[in-house]
Amino acid sequence: MIKKITTTALAALAFIALTGCGEEKAPEAVTYKYSTVEVYEKSCIKCHGKFGEGNPAKKTPALNDRTAGEMAQDLYDVKNGGTSGQSGGTDHEIMEHNMQKLVDKGYDYDINAMAEFLSYLVKNK
Ligand code: HEC
Repeated sequence: MIKKITTTALAALAFIALTGCGEEKAPEAVTYKYSTVEVYEKSCIKCHGKFGEGNPAKKTPALNDRTAGEMAQDLYDVKNGGTSGQSGGTDHEIMEHNMQKLVDKGYDYDINAMAEFLSYLVKNK
């Protein structure tokens, strides 16, 4: 019994030592180079249109026909290659490729903020 307690105490000590006085490190805050609006205006707009209406000539879909929640899901898919879906893989290969390039250029964005922004475009179109 005593041995067990000692072991536990030692493990706890080791844990505290390893993690630095048991203080939790704050998760690294993600910072984006551009605001959501800037990202949309500098990148998305040229393919998806001023109000997210899409552009048949460029074969780009509208982004203004769904709720912010649905949009967030689609943005997540586009950014993560459909890992949120059941089957893995989406029909967004082109956009996934585009998104990768855009992220490399610094046009990364917060998914929920972008979804909110797009639904704002819808309400104000
Ligand atoms: C170079 C043109 C281009 C740019 C720039 C671009 N897109 Fe796209 N996007 C496309 C095309 C083409 C598709 C349709 C094919 C596909 O989904 O792979 C698409 C599809 C999407 C979809 C999936 C739509 C659906 O119906 O589910 C989302 C979400 C999306 N884009 C968001 C964005 C956002 C956000 C940006 C800016 C950060 C952006 N796109 C910039 C061309 C573009």
